[in-house]
Amino acid sequence: MTEAVAEVLFPKEVIARRVRELAGQISRDYEGREPLIVGILNGAFIFMADLIRALDVPCRVDFVRLASYGSESVSSGAIRIGKDLETPIAGRDVLIVEDIVDTGLTLSRLVEVLRERQPASLRVCVFLDKPERRRIPFTADYVGFVIPDRFVVGYGLDFDEKYRFLPDVYVLGRSS
Ligand code: PRP
Repeated sequence: MTEAVAEVLFPKEVIARRVRELAGQISRDYEGREPLIVGILNGAFIFMADLIRALDVPCRVDFVRLASYGSESVSSGAIRIGKDLETPIAGRDVLIVEDIVDTGLTLSRLVEVLRERQPASLRVCVFLDKPERRRIPFTADYVGFVIPDRFVVGYGLDFDEKYRFLPDVYVLGRSS
């Protein structure tokens, strides 16, 4: 199979406008506070970098990486922490930032794990939401764009580790 970047779904100007809107909403909600922004590696890094620079509140940052237990694990939801936070979160306002919610397994598991650490608050901001693909119920607090069940790349999202660097979001098509 050869893949080809077929069509632009969200050009960078549209992304930038939506990120500013999200940052405005988050800034209002966290006024007077200093949330810890938790990015999920790798996909979230570009969205997170743009989002935090558009905030009007101070924040701190940390990252997690999640990993599957094995090839069967996606359907079972068995997701473990590959790289943990370096910041204690008890009593802190925590905002998880993620590039996409698909089946919901990754974020559900991370929320469950972080909630056990008793943060003052815990919310989730996703750049893209693909609700048709959910396997378990999951609702993010902040959503950039709701998208149909198409394979998308760019702005941090990859196919086989390619295309993360693209400034726009594309629907990935297939050639030949
Ligand atoms: C992607 C994406 C989310 C997850 C969403 O990560 O970044 O973390 O899948 O899927 P889910 O809702 O079905 O759990 P991926 O494992 O591709 O890693 P990446 O962030 O390094 O691209």
